[in-house]
Amino acid sequence: MVKVTVCGAAGGIGQPLSLLLKLNQNVDELALFDIVNANGVAADLSHICSPAKVTGHQPANKEDKLAITSALTNSDLVIIPAGVPRKPGMTRADLFNINASIIRDLIANVGKTCPNAAILIISNPVNATVPIAAEVLKKLGVFNPKKLFGVTTLDSVRAETFLGELINEPPKSLKGKISVIGGHSGDTIVPLINVNSTISAKSSKITPAQYKEFVHRVQFGGDEVVKAKNGAGSATLSMAYAGYRFAESVLDSVAGGQTNTSVVPETSYVYLPGLPNGEELSKKSLNGATYFSVPVILEKGEIKSFINPFDSLTITENEKQLVSVALNGLDKSIAQGTNFVKGSK
Ligand code: NAD
Ligand code: LMR
Repeated sequence: MVKVTVCGAAGGIGQPLSLLLKLNQNVDELALFDIVNANGVAADLSHICSPAKVTGHQPANKEDKLAITSALTNSDLVIIPAGVPRKPGMTRADLFNINASIIRDLIANVGKTCPNAAILIISNPVNATVPIAAEVLKKLGVFNPKKLFGVTTLDSVRAETFLGELINEPPKSLKGKISVIGGHSGDTIVPLINVNSTISAKSSKITPAQYKEFVHRVQFGGDEVVKAKNGAGSATLSMAYAGYRFAESVLDSVAGGQTNTSVVPETSYVYLPGLPNGEELSKKSLNGATYFSVPVILEKGEIKSFINPFDSLTITENEKQLVSVALNGLDKSIAQGTNFVKGSK
């Protein structure tokens, strides 16, 4: 029996993500939690003829804890797109004031109710909300770094799409052949395009101006959508696709599909010191950064290992430069998220 819980299930990301999860044959139960309209979305999805049993969980009032507890009980995978999205003129960091406490409180419930679940954090700013989640779980004594994932898959999806357009390759064939490391905001996002020799040979033909434009589009793709939506939010449909793609990898690994390193790894923003060889990567190549997005290999719903971009991938001097810029931005967000929890009761 595999139970998946979506927190923020009635939102712009939550609804299409829940639809995709309802179609996954490995899901036996899909619990949809939101402070509004969770029951409506659950009723709607429950009419689809796929195996997952869909349940809605919506608190009757602010004091009602039963809804979140029932949504999380026995959950194997908790996916969190709860919180506010950006409007034009805002950075992801501007969302911290509202989203930090939403994540803190939801994760406290996860830690108490289903501490063994894999947790996927979508809510922004991811660079800080993942450290918040880790600190809450540490306080509760249930932190498993192998099961806490910041979802940065949309950056990979964008990189595959944009590079595919430039080098005339179907984006699908680029999955796992480029890697987007670092964090999830502006210049903390670092696309690496020399991971695979075939792609690297084709990529070497793009002009320096095209490369610069490619990096900028991957780093600021989110802004492109926020601007186009003009006040109606940020990426929801591409994010639902990306979030599902990552969730599917986790579910496959729970079902026993991904048990060896030949499977294409997905990248995720993770707590390095808690992973085998993570401390070494952090100290040797990342100036001690504790959270960083790396390609992870999953097994049984958790991280088995990761690919060290500095060991296994052909990282160029220019890409190393991008990493050092990324580390500056990440430092501040990690400290902000960590201190937020350390400073609260
Ligand atoms: P949205 O406003 O459409 O939906 C958010 C949902 O969260 C709403 O239904 C709201 O009721 C719910 N919610 C608010 N507080 C809650 C709580 N305490 N418990 C449960 N549910 C709660 O927003 P959206 O467009 O779906 O975006 C959600 C978040 O995802 C934003 O923070 C956005 O910045 C982020 N995002 C991240 C990525 C990424 O790549 N990681 C991509 C796109 C968006
Ligand atoms: C994205 O990359 O699209 C998301 O992080 C949403 C945003 O605020 O840009």
